[in-house]
Amino acid sequence: MNSTREFDLVLQGATGFTGQLAAEELALRAPKGFRWAVAGRDKVRTLALAQRFGVDAVIADAMDQAANDSLASRTQVVLTCAGPFSRYGKHLADACVKYSTHYADISGELPWIDGLIRNHHHTCVERGISMIPASGFDSVPSDLGFWELRQHVGAEIPIRGFFTIRGGFNGGTLHSGIALAEDLGAEALPRATQLAQCFAVPSLGKWATPFLMAPVNEDTVARSEAWRVAQEDADARHQPYLEYMLVRGRMRAKGVRFALRTMERMFASRFGRSMLQRFGPKPGQGPSEEDIRNGFARLDLLAGPLDAPVAQRSWNWEGDPSNRITVHCLVQTGLALASSEAKTAGVVTPSVGLGDALWQRLLQSGAVGAHHKNNGK
Ligand SMILES: NC(=O)c1ccc[n+]([C@@H]2O[C@H](COP(=O)([O-])OP(=O)(O)OC[C@H]3O[C@@H](n4cnc5c(N)ncnc54)[C@H](OP(=O)(O)O)[C@@H]3O)[C@@H](O)[C@H]2O)c1
Repeated sequence: MNSTREFDLVLQGATGFTGQLAAEELALRAPKGFRWAVAGRDKVRTLALAQRFGVDAVIADAMDQAANDSLASRTQVVLTCAGPFSRYGKHLADACVKYSTHYADISGELPWIDGLIRNHHHTCVERGISMIPASGFDSVPSDLGFWELRQHVGAEIPIRGFFTIRGGFNGGTLHSGIALAEDLGAEALPRATQLAQCFAVPSLGKWATPFLMAPVNEDTVARSEAWRVAQEDADARHQPYLEYMLVRGRMRAKGVRFALRTMERMFASRFGRSMLQRFGPKPGQGPSEEDIRNGFARLDLLAGPLDAPVAQRSWNWEGDPSNRITVHCLVQTGLALASSEAKTAGVVTPSVGLGDALWQRLLQSGAVGAHHKNNGK
């Protein structure tokens, strides 16, 4: 890494809802002497934000390749919250590869991630750069949680994840889903309800129902596992990771599934999308400060049979998932990349790119706390 660069880290999309929270988190967590800057397309708002944190401002419109080249050439690490990534991400990602700059984003857009892998993976490996999409709530908790338990039980025992969540919905996330459907067709959207039904989870005393972000998290874990297969136990019969939301009873599980199915249908139709755009939160909007503070996500991971798992983990993540948990994960990813803690180059997942270094950072910063139940493993 080129430590002679002007900045250790630049945060693009800093004026957005998640971006501002990420800037606050960076101001809180950056070690003394850490050289970081906020970036955005709007000069007045980006300068105001930079002044608030006493850092530099970089002005770069996502659609301007020269501005993105300049941004990437000045820093060791880029973090970006400027989404929809499939619309605004290309020039920045290209610039990071061109100037050998580590990169992480908070995308949950599978076509965007597939494109990064297709276009940049080999060059990143050659140049020793780590590019880590899905570094927010999608998919750090699932990817690291799965990996931690899988190290104890091995590859051949199926692991299932169950999220219990309290949190709000950002206008930026809604806008990203709509952009995906409009640019690439409704089939580009993840469809949790197509794959998952409702069922009882006896060892947790609750019911499972489809989870909106499961397709993205399952895909991230599958990429991590594919990398591990290539590295280590190619003969092991790897079991796919499956993820659900956990609720209190059967009726509630069915109600949540119905609501999610309705929302997926709305995303798939032009009329539905126009209703969501009209009545849903707008880009730049998100939950209140109080809701962000009071939110949480608990991830229960069960290895083996659901009525008698051979091992179990419960991870409690603090704060609203889309916002607080996302910025905890993104900022620690950025700080780890800037401290040369990356262990794998390429377009990689959080557990493959940073693994234990990121886990330890998140545990030590209090972003996540653990409850283990080993049942012999
Ligand atoms: N992985 C996760 O768990 C997770 C959680 C939350 C959000 N997200 C994703 O993160 C993204 C941002 O979410 P959000 O709620 O923060 O949305 P937001 O408030 O609408 O922020 C979008 C950001 O993108 C910037 N942007 C838009 N067009 C740009 C351009 N041409 N050049 C430079 N910057 C541009 C906006 O700048 P202006 O301020 O100038 O408009 C803003 O900073 C979305 O894609 C969302 O789906 C993911």
